[in-house]
Amino acid sequence: MSAPVLQLAGVTRDHRQGEATVQALRGVDLTVSPGELVAVMGPSGSGKSTLLHLAGGLDTPTAGRVVVEGRDLAELSAAQVAAVRRRSVGYVFQDLNLLPSLSAVENVALPLELDGVRGGMARRAAREALEEVGVGALAGRFPDEMSGGQQQRVAIARALVGPRRLLLADEPTGALDSTTGEEVLRVLRARCEAGAAGVLVTHEARHAAWADRVVFLRDGVVVDQSGPAAVAESLLPAGGAG
Ligand SMILES: Nc1ncnc2c1ncn2[C@@H]1O[C@H](COP(=O)(O)OP(=O)(O)O)[C@@H](O)[C@H]1O
Ligand SMILES: [Mg+2]
Repeated sequence: MSAPVLQLAGVTRDHRQGEATVQALRGVDLTVSPGELVAVMGPSGSGKSTLLHLAGGLDTPTAGRVVVEGRDLAELSAAQVAAVRRRSVGYVFQDLNLLPSLSAVENVALPLELDGVRGGMARRAAREALEEVGVGALAGRFPDEMSGGQQQRVAIARALVGPRRLLLADEPTGALDSTTGEEVLRVLRARCEAGAAGVLVTHEARHAAWADRVVFLRDGVVVDQSGPAAVAESLLPAGGAG
């Protein structure tokens, strides 16, 4: 078996809220291998976003280990963690944050250029990523010249551009119509088939049905890990598979 892309081992994350401590995650173990797409489901406040932040090196655990492509993030400098984020992690947020003064292709090329990829190559990769999410024709448009759904596709292209091996998506279909949402899931799935590891937070069973496994969180604890998306599929109405 190939080495995992992501390993969480005994991961706990406490947040101070005034006098109280909120345990957003408590002793979570999760391993995601190349080729795997894992869905994370659970009620609001169960720790799903915290899990993704930790996996992407945007937050640090109170206890436990986060290992990305064999590197324990706690053993890296801040600059090294930033490099892992730029090169290895594709992070699709709900919040779009496209830069308004850059065109679609410039927005998508930006993470590569920040990582030292030359302009021409970065733009070529950016165009490919825009094609992949079906907005190749909008490369020259600025964010305010696109619909919300188109902007979100550009944000997804930016998150996926280049050879990233860990794809983290936090309810990526939230602002999309259902056809576009499915297309984004198809792109995630295809990237995983090509060797990436994916973690998809979703509250919709028909989206989780795209995953190989479903992990259920409740109050920061993994309460169930089901196999080949069987549980999610069993929640679908008859004949309603995605
Ligand atoms: N920065 C923070 N400061 C304080 N509490 C937080 C912070 N981030 C998350 N929490 C708390 O941690 C818990 C899990 O939050 P979150 O991971 O956002 O859940 P989910 O994404 O499943 O809705 C919630 O109780 C939330 O209020
Ligand atoms: Mg969340």
